[in-house]
Amino acid sequence: MIWYPYEQMKTMKPPYEIVDAEGVYLYTKEGDKMIDSISSWWSVIHGYKHPVLTKAIKEQADVFSHVMLGGLTHKAVQKLSDKLASWLPGDLDYCFFSDSGSVAVEVALKMALQFNVNRKDGRKTVLSLTHSYHGDTFKTMEVGDDEDYHFAFESKQGVIHIPTEIPALEEAFEKHHHELNCFIVEPLLQGAGGMRMYDLAFLKRARQLCDRYDVLLIFDEVATGFGRTGYRFVADEVLPDILVLGKALTGGYIGHAVTVAGEKVYRGFYGDDPSLALMHGPTFMGNALACSAALASIELFEGQDYMAKIRRITEIMRREMADFSSPKVKEVRIMGGCVCLEVYDGASLAGYQEFAGKQGVFARPFLKYLYAMPPYVIAEEELVKVLSVMKAWF
Ligand SMILES: Cc1ncc(COP(=O)(O)O)c(C=O)c1O
Repeated sequence: MIWYPYEQMKTMKPPYEIVDAEGVYLYTKEGDKMIDSISSWWSVIHGYKHPVLTKAIKEQADVFSHVMLGGLTHKAVQKLSDKLASWLPGDLDYCFFSDSGSVAVEVALKMALQFNVNRKDGRKTVLSLTHSYHGDTFKTMEVGDDEDYHFAFESKQGVIHIPTEIPALEEAFEKHHHELNCFIVEPLLQGAGGMRMYDLAFLKRARQLCDRYDVLLIFDEVATGFGRTGYRFVADEVLPDILVLGKALTGGYIGHAVTVAGEKVYRGFYGDDPSLALMHGPTFMGNALACSAALASIELFEGQDYMAKIRRITEIMRREMADFSSPKVKEVRIMGGCVCLEVYDGASLAGYQEFAGKQGVFARPFLKYLYAMPPYVIAEEELVKVLSVMKAWF
């Protein structure tokens, strides 16, 4: 029996059984079709069954699907790491692969911690944001601040949380710089914490303070990477020391993620002493099918001007939401390829999934947040439909 995520198994409604998927559409066993308005947890940016991605995976499967990276290497992972090194900003050149976003964030935190151990610097405390979400493994839960997901695991040791406000940031560095190891953020858009959006000025100030106090800056772009904020990567605007990518890395076709370190971090592990090495190695890191899908996905993203597609999505969202208001809705937030309606009372969203499903839209509101993060290939009339259904609910 399947144990489903984030659900009370006793009371959960049966999930839609999907028998086919193509473009932005999911096809159910009952013969209905629905637009996937949230891109399978924000990952399927090119839509389903894209011929280029399917071909890349099939071609690699004909060669081999997987070999481990311990003592072995292969063309697909080499090509992907070369591509990422040249495509990502600044000196973010050193790619450590893993199988999920949570693990890739764990790797980033371990890297930051051991970076200091290797240079005999005892600072261990992690600075993080209130309402942050970095994954569901233990350390990511600890640096996260999302009690709705992680209430059963309360222990928060060695972590300081601050709001996305510059005075709070400055105060935290002033008070705690002597113990700070790294500052981890979901840049500009805090996803699972409620689609909360904040300003680039905060990140620019964070970069200055991290430089001044020699603290590593980690961007968790598992959700924001590949254009979701309207920037290709927020790292293009403010360069972190470590960047984490996942979800859309493979176009959402195969679970994979990467922790990319800059030169300074990489050098901190480099030397003749074996004990300086990073001791981590997921079995499926650098999986050949995932790397082939990721390469094909990046080529599509670049070759078909996805940033223009995302700008179009933002425009349509702004246009369609311009006149919308409801006494139940506290705020409408739009950034890049994300729209979120925050309601005053989460109870007012009960039943929305069924309502939207009946009108041909798959959605999954959570807590007080009704949102859409569609695949970037969504057509104008499809996006207008998604937004109309959201508005019609109120
Ligand atoms: C910002 C962020 N970091 C990390 C993760 C964890 O990724 P995964 O679910 O692949 O473990 C998520 C997942 O939603 C995320 O939004």
